[in-house]
Amino acid sequence: MSASESGSTASGSGFPLNLTVNGIRQSREVAPWTTLLDLLREDLGLTGTKKGCDHGQCGACTVLVDGLRVNSCLTLALVKDGSSVTTVEGLAGADGTLHPMQAAFVEHDAFQCGFCTSGQIISAVALMQEGHTGCRDEIREWMSGNLCRCGAYPNIVDAIEQVAEQAP
Ligand code: FES
Ligand code: FES
Repeated sequence: MSASESGSTASGSGFPLNLTVNGIRQSREVAPWTTLLDLLREDLGLTGTKKGCDHGQCGACTVLVDGLRVNSCLTLALVKDGSSVTTVEGLAGADGTLHPMQAAFVEHDAFQCGFCTSGQIISAVALMQEGHTGCRDEIREWMSGNLCRCGAYPNIVDAIEQVAEQAP
């Protein structure tokens, strides 16, 4: 999809949008119908965030906006003007060290095809901050917005449980 198809405009016919994405300030002219997901993937090249269903059903597009998890396919980019967005590309350290949640997903083999994984990891990071990691059932419940067609759910819960247990 081209930038114009995704709704971002280079000609100045859109509306100004300023976001901080993974710590970097981004300014664009954006059409009103542009979703945050399309902005991230098509305009900023951050393709780690996946487009699964594109209508709020699968969680593959989950990103953090001002620390809260949102389905970026259902979020108009302009509504988040001035916000801070974190995608899966923003989790690792500057030296490439994986975020503890990323490392736990690798350790526990918490994926097969990997299509859902960035959304799962972003959601899991938010889950930790929300404090919904008291037991496996609670983790399952609060991760229920993230679907995995490969059925890696037990391993995903294992990974999250480990990070929760090791958290200070
Ligand atoms: Fe957004 Fe499925 S792509 S919820
Ligand atoms: Fe394939 Fe989750 S690992 S959809």
